[in-house]
Amino acid sequence: MSDELKRASAEAALEEVRSGMKLGIGTGSTAEFFVRALADKVAAGLDVIGVPTSERTAALCKELGVPLTTLDETPELDLTIDGADELDAELQLIKGGGAALLREKIVAAASTRMVVIADESKVVETLGQFPLPIEVMPFGLESTRRAVVKVADALALSGEVKLRMGTDGAPLVTDGGHYILDGHWGRIPDAVSLADRLAAIPGVVEHGLFIGLAKAAYVAGPAGVRKISPAAA
Ligand code: A5P
Repeated sequence: MSDELKRASAEAALEEVRSGMKLGIGTGSTAEFFVRALADKVAAGLDVIGVPTSERTAALCKELGVPLTTLDETPELDLTIDGADELDAELQLIKGGGAALLREKIVAAASTRMVVIADESKVVETLGQFPLPIEVMPFGLESTRRAVVKVADALALSGEVKLRMGTDGAPLVTDGGHYILDGHWGRIPDAVSLADRLAAIPGVVEHGLFIGLAKAAYVAGPAGVRKISPAAA
C-alpha cells in the first residue's frame, strides 16, 4: 500500500518537469519511484539533466539512463524533487532519515523550486515525531552532542540525542564523511528557533529541518494525490 502511495506521489510530481530543465534529484524510497518514472520519460525523449543528492541516487540514475551533471558544472537548478520524513501544513520538513540531508539541502537551496513527494503518513501537525537528523563533524563529537542537548534544553525539548549507528556496528558515515546525531524530541513546536540555534553550533555541519525551501508537496493518500502549495511558501 505504502509503496503504491509513494509511486503515486512521485508520478504526480512529474507534471512539474518540463523539457530542458536542470533537476535536483532526491534520495530515499519515494525519490526512487520518481527516478524510475523520470527514466521512462527520458527514454521517451524528455530532455533533462539531473544533479543527484546521494551516491545511491546517482547509481540508480546511471543504471536507468537519466543524464547526470554535478552542481559544480550546473550550479543553478530549475527544480528539485525529493522525499521527506515529515512535513507540516506550512511545508516545513524533517529530512535526513536516509542520511543524505546535507547534499539534499545544498541541492534544494540551489534550485528555483523544491517540490516534496510523500505519502499521507508523513504529514504531521507538529514536526518532531520523526527523530531530527543532525549531521556533525566526527571531530569533537561529544562536545557537539552536548551543545545540541543544551540547545534542546533551552527550548524545553526533552528526549535523547543519539549517535546513528551503521549496520556494521560502527557510527554511520554520511556521503560527506560526517556522523549523524538523531534528536528524539517527539515534538518541535518552534522549528525556526531550533534550526537557527543548531546552525550556530560549530560542530554541526547541517540539520534536517528544511524551512522555507519547499514550495509545494504532492501527498498521496487512499483517496488520491493532493497538492499542497501554501501561499506563503
Ligand atoms: C534522505 O536523507 C531523506 O531526507 C529522505 O528524503 C527521506 O528519508 C524520505 O525517504 P523515504 O521516501 O524513503 O521515506
